[in-house]
Amino acid sequence: MNLKYRKTIIAGNWKMHLNADEAKKFILRLKPKAVQARWCDVVLCVPFLQIPAAVKAAKGTRIAIGAQNCHYEPKGAYTGEISCEMLAEAGVKYVIIGHSERRRDNNETDTTVNKKVLAALQAGLKPIICVGESLEMRDNDVTLDVVRMQVKTALRGVMHDQIRRVTIAYEPIWAIGTGYTATAEQAGEVCEAIREVVRQLYGARLARAVSILYGGSMNTANAAELLAQPDVDGGLIGGASLKTESFEDIIEAANQ
Ligand code: 13P
Repeated sequence: MNLKYRKTIIAGNWKMHLNADEAKKFILRLKPKAVQARWCDVVLCVPFLQIPAAVKAAKGTRIAIGAQNCHYEPKGAYTGEISCEMLAEAGVKYVIIGHSERRRDNNETDTTVNKKVLAALQAGLKPIICVGESLEMRDNDVTLDVVRMQVKTALRGVMHDQIRRVTIAYEPIWAIGTGYTATAEQAGEVCEAIREVVRQLYGARLARAVSILYGGSMNTANAAELLAQPDVDGGLIGGASLKTESFEDIIEAANQ
């Protein structure tokens, strides 16, 4: 983390968990901690249907509500899709784009990720762009090449005056939901490489201002060590974001 230059962000990705009632209760329980957490932004990326209840429950708090996906067109004949404009209208501030589960199950590519990033920025949302390698890629020592390409493609067409609204999440696929976490050194190395790509594209000053998160089995036990890396500016948390206690502990770890 580097609080001098950029925000720390602790973001929960609820995936397909928690119903509207559970979402509301979760946010009400989290409120006091979020009030104290001046050192970081707290984001909850909830299922689409839970957005209205979550936005309502989080009103007047420092908790921002995010979505987990969006379409890249503002409107049109796209059955089952939700546009960035619709999300913004509903009170959403952040949107996760290119999560590896969607790349795997929903044919998301670096190209569609790029289109969605541009659409999100156009609608006034803050995209959280997910990148990361498979175990096979890591074993073949191409992690940095793969991640650099993912970042560069995702940012194609993003203007200098937009890049501060972008957050990048490094999520090694082999660490998601597996209980295996990247070591602090592995996370730090890749996040540093990501910042270097941003620096080459936007210059040192703007690169310093972009928050880069780590995601993949982040939990109460490992959060502090991961967050101590200079280029790890927060976490994108799946499993441990479903219980208020563990999520709060991670927010607390961001304060060390
Ligand atoms: P876990 O924290 O459950 O590994 O999930 C990480 C993730 O996919 C966040 O987007």
